[in-house]
Amino acid sequence: MEPGAARRLCVVGAGTMGHQIAMLGALAGCATHVVDVRPDALERAQVANRAHMARWVERGRLTAQDAADALGRLRWTTRLEEGAADADFVIEAVIERLEDKQAVFTALDRLAPAHAVLATNSSTIRSSFLASVTARADRVCNMHFFNPPLVMELVEVVVHPATSEATAAAALALARRMGRTPVLLRKEISGFVVNRILAAIMDEALRLYEGGIASFEDIDIAVKKGLRHPMGPFELMDFNGIDVAYNVRMQRYRETGDELQKPARSIEERYGRGEWGRKTGKGWYAYPRPEPS
Ligand SMILES: NC(=O)c1ccc[n+]([C@@H]2O[C@H](COP(=O)([O-])OP(=O)(O)OC[C@H]3O[C@@H](n4cnc5c(N)ncnc54)[C@H](O)[C@@H]3O)[C@@H](O)[C@H]2O)c1
Repeated sequence: MEPGAARRLCVVGAGTMGHQIAMLGALAGCATHVVDVRPDALERAQVANRAHMARWVERGRLTAQDAADALGRLRWTTRLEEGAADADFVIEAVIERLEDKQAVFTALDRLAPAHAVLATNSSTIRSSFLASVTARADRVCNMHFFNPPLVMELVEVVVHPATSEATAAAALALARRMGRTPVLLRKEISGFVVNRILAAIMDEALRLYEGGIASFEDIDIAVKKGLRHPMGPFELMDFNGIDVAYNVRMQRYRETGDELQKPARSIEERYGRGEWGRKTGKGWYAYPRPEPS
């Protein structure tokens, strides 16, 4: 396949990430199949995409006709064999569990045309772990979108040692056609670029706070005013979920056995108290619960 030639897309997993990645594909002009094992997830995804497009039309970002055309390019199915059968390019966005992703890649290798690229949107799983269950390692890579994909412009394309140049070029070209800005990581590394830099900022912010150097509120103000970040690190932890911060570090600790990888004391305390950020109404900051409607 020539770089940029992907015309028929298949997105596997219609959750938080998948439904919007599929919408980007349809907006880029690709006939896009969306596959999910759960019919209710497909239903929710369709409703959400119709609402996203209605807002874009309202704001003058695209015409009603273009929105209707893009929505018309989406096809929804619970059957992977139907979604993958004619795909040039597959983006997998199912839950973050290696066994589940390997099962999907094994099936995709059997069901998708031989020329098709198989990409994973995983935030933490290296594509080499998925390439190994296929007979097309050269056509496998990570294509890491950010949440929410319709808003966040960056895509990290990450190759593994056997990924071909043509596959990397096809992933970069597809991301550009979707209106995203791709960057290429030439080696697999856990956390890729953005999450590694973010982790370093979070670690330092927690060290400064736990060392009594400044309050967490003042650290947030310093980062926002001094570095022009839209959110401070503590606000961001509340936004993403303190449970997520805790689980990521516990996972890294389990993988490495390194005590230094354990969650920071102040994260562990909040996790234990169920103060997980916005989702629980309290984390570093307190969030008034929405009024019942
Ligand atoms: N949520 C984020 O902020 C974010 C950001 C970047 C990358 N990611 C990555 O995207 C992937 C998906 O994350 P998400 O937040 O969209 O998850 P999610 O739980 O919202 O959606 C996953 C969907 O996959 C479906 N699914 C599960 N097994 C399946 C299978 N075998 N075949 C088809 N569908 C299946 C589920 O029914 C669900 O609808 C993960 O790999 C995650 O690391 C997530």
